[in-house]
Amino acid sequence: MPLPPPTLLITGGAGFIGSHVVRLFVTKYPGYRIVNLDALTYAGNLENLRDVEKAPNYFFEKINILEPDALQRIFEYYKPDGVIHLAAESHVDRSILSPLDFVYTNVIGTVNLLQAARHSWKDKMEGKRFYHISTDEVYGALGETGFFTETTRYDPHSPYSASKAASDHFVRAYHDTYGLPVVISNCSNNYGPNHFPEKLIPLFINNIITRKPLPVYGDGLYTRDWLFVKDHATAIDRVYHSGKNGETYNIGGFNEWKNIDLVKLLCKLVDEKRGNAPGTSEPLITFVKDRPGHDRRYAIDATKIHKELGWSPSVTFEEGLSLTIDWYLQNTEWLQHVTSGAYLRYYEEQYRDRG
Ligand code: NAD
Ligand code: TYD
Repeated sequence: MPLPPPTLLITGGAGFIGSHVVRLFVTKYPGYRIVNLDALTYAGNLENLRDVEKAPNYFFEKINILEPDALQRIFEYYKPDGVIHLAAESHVDRSILSPLDFVYTNVIGTVNLLQAARHSWKDKMEGKRFYHISTDEVYGALGETGFFTETTRYDPHSPYSASKAASDHFVRAYHDTYGLPVVISNCSNNYGPNHFPEKLIPLFINNIITRKPLPVYGDGLYTRDWLFVKDHATAIDRVYHSGKNGETYNIGGFNEWKNIDLVKLLCKLVDEKRGNAPGTSEPLITFVKDRPGHDRRYAIDATKIHKELGWSPSVTFEEGLSLTIDWYLQNTEWLQHVTSGAYLRYYEEQYRDRG
């Protein structure tokens, strides 16, 4: 009898990074069954996957990872060989407004998924893989120098990073206690097409297009390390297929930018692409009250994934930003759809008291 096709469950596949991962796997591995499990919160958008939704190897299940019975049904029905877990609440500012949402989805939801995998794979763990997608924010903040490595001590400061740190600990505990075959990666800040316009880069592109103020927190000298989302997806492919059980891989592009320099670059590039006179958009920059608990600097040392798995980013920051801005300029309908009712209420609450 022929073997059944490998089945991969991807959670959060309708979100920003998840949709790029789903697209990569559906198109690159036509022999796999790809099941996208997503609750479709404000951040989940099936419009992100229009181009692959009719592929014969693609399946979608609208399920919340807070429902253990539903997860068990999915595992019984599809019998996945692997899980790539991206479903999460992902925005630091929202975690400051509603920390419990982050505890529920990121911690309890992850444990529900670990339980479902452990139960489903109890007779044979060999050949299975639970891949947890995490963030560099679990490591806390760096000073002027240094990098986060895979052995940097966890030191989260926001409810978001604390909830991701807790989920990472549970994943490792399931490996050490139950022998679940797990792998974890911690990536730096992503940017690219389909990024919800609450995070810095898509928010500021949208605000430049719509001529709204660009709210830079604090002194604007906070530093982030940016990676193009499609490069994160290729790294995830590499770790899923070649990473070692129980290991952690840091993912990043050695690409640090101070927020204010990045915002000025965005203004310049959008002005050039729209044929505006130089300097048209910079006056929109507005310094506002800082984010509480704001981490000063993130920077990933991605040596391990480069040396052990042979992964490197494929685009420069200039190329990636240019592609990203073009995407937002061409996809105004997508932007209009995601910046309606609930988005406007969030925006009002988030920026009301920042002055
Ligand atoms: P996102 O907010 O764009 O997408 C999250 C997805 O998860 C959405 O489709 C949403 O509907 C789904 N989801 C949320 N709660 C759910 C629940 N309870 N049940 C089922 N589905 C649910 O997030 P993203 O930016 O694509 O991030 C994906 C993952 O990558 C997260 O785990 C995040 O912590 C991690 N990560 C993100 C970045 C980044 O820069 N965005 C960097 C490193 C790591
Ligand atoms: P963000 O995109 O929220 O990612 P994270 O906080 O997870 O790194 O923010 C990136 C940086 O931009 C961070 O230093 C906070 C800053 N920022 C602003 O200055 N203004 C804003 O309106 C937002 C959303 C972020």
